[in-house]
Amino acid sequence: MEKTLFICKPDAVRRGLVGEILRRLENKGLKFVALEQRSITKDEAQEHYIEHAGKKFFEDLVEFITSGPSVLAVVTGEGEVIKMVRGIMGSTDPSSANPGTIRGDLATMVSENLVHGSDSLAAAQREIKLFFPNLEA
Ligand code: RTP
Ligand code: MG
Repeated sequence: MEKTLFICKPDAVRRGLVGEILRRLENKGLKFVALEQRSITKDEAQEHYIEHAGKKFFEDLVEFITSGPSVLAVVTGEGEVIKMVRGIMGSTDPSSANPGTIRGDLATMVSENLVHGSDSLAAAQREIKLFFPNLEA
């Protein structure tokens, strides 16, 4: 079964929205293979967002994602899990995210958009290995 890395970012933890967010994935029928609350380190953040290294928002992004505890999860289920999770999340910018999505319903700022989900199979494999090195592939 396809697996993806999912993160409730520090704003989700600070705002007490972790239950609300995870409920949406559970209600869909997805399963948590791993689930852990902890702070992401600076090294992990820089590696995780390596595709954005050099962009003008990169430093703020690393600062934000390391600003407090996150909830890290490996999510699986039947079907196209990566695509389904991205759909439940909504567009990156909450201003254009559809109602019914996490970002459309619960966020206002692109810099604090509550969640992360891997955007491809290759990214999912890389990110799961980064945050859960002991989990079997
Ligand atoms: P994520 O990686 O966090 O799941 O978000 P995403 O795939 O929807 O968006 P991505 O393009 O990968 O961007 C990563 C995060 O960088 C911030 N961002 N800021 N100021 C900007 O123009 C800008 N663009 C992206 C967002 O917080 C986004 O989640
Ligand atoms: Mg991304």
